[in-house]
Amino acid sequence: MDWGLQNRLSSIIKPQNNRALMLAVDHGYFLGPTEKLENPKKVIAPLLKYCDSLMVTRGVQRTSVSATTDTPMVLRVSGGSSIIGEDLSQEDITVSIQDAIRLNASALAMSIFVGSKYEYQTIVNLGKLVSEAESYGIPVLAVTAVGKELGKDARYLSLACRVAAEQGAHIVKTYYCDNFEKVVQSCPVPIIVAGGKKIPERDALQLTFNAIKGGAVGVDMGRNIWQSEHPVAMIRAVRSIVHGNSNVDQAFKLYQKLVSEESKNRPKNKNKPNNPNQNKSKNKNKPNNPNQNKSKNPNPSKK
Ligand code: 5RP
Repeated sequence: MDWGLQNRLSSIIKPQNNRALMLAVDHGYFLGPTEKLENPKKVIAPLLKYCDSLMVTRGVQRTSVSATTDTPMVLRVSGGSSIIGEDLSQEDITVSIQDAIRLNASALAMSIFVGSKYEYQTIVNLGKLVSEAESYGIPVLAVTAVGKELGKDARYLSLACRVAAEQGAHIVKTYYCDNFEKVVQSCPVPIIVAGGKKIPERDALQLTFNAIKGGAVGVDMGRNIWQSEHPVAMIRAVRSIVHGNSNVDQAFKLYQKLVSEESKNRPKNKNKPNNPNQNKSKNKNKPNNPNQNKSKNPNPSKK
């Protein structure tokens, strides 16, 4: 492996422990202003120092991330469809290699849609992107996209991950599933797990723990961090599993401790509740009390 490629890869997957914590904020590329990511600059700023790398689009990188950061950028270079369009799988490469280099990308990311109408196009695009990126020493992360019509079980995900690795992807991002070990065992490159839809904090920590136990190098988590009522506490708890080898109980206790410190340190404002228990939400999907989220049986749903 070329020195530059190895160097970039090691800024994403830390060589000390072979682990990675990637913060995903690229959702707007097909979802538009995703809930709680309406203002990416505000969301990213407090979280940046707690992730090993940021998965981002060029638009958000240029407008919403400080150029003085030393956090590596994993640049999404695929797109072309939106959630209201006809077919989400119709993606192409939308960013030139020159622009990726100008943006100092540490890796390029694109989705493949194995089993979809546009399977051929996305897989061929992955092969071409790997060839081009490798000539500049830039690694490629392949995202095995899932959709309503695509499978989410170990059989499907093993196939999709293996196809990505065979095309030369250096890292594959996929979803956690039952028999996840099988997916990891049949993929010759490191696997990183997406968080999926927002689930209670403890369940997201369980997902992180299970993914690493199953052989993933780490997580590329978005919504379960920035859609939490306490994103900084959540990313620090996730980090304690990825890099601190915490178990789920330890990580969740850390989350609760940080939430309680946050509320103590928040300036008192009569109009704004500063106690997480005070701020009773009407929406069950948006819990604001960490204890509300207790569940020992996570069923992490995918996007
Ligand atoms: C969008 C992506 C996201 O980066 C990925 O799904 C991770 O985010 P989340 O944890 O919210 O699922 O690849 O296509």
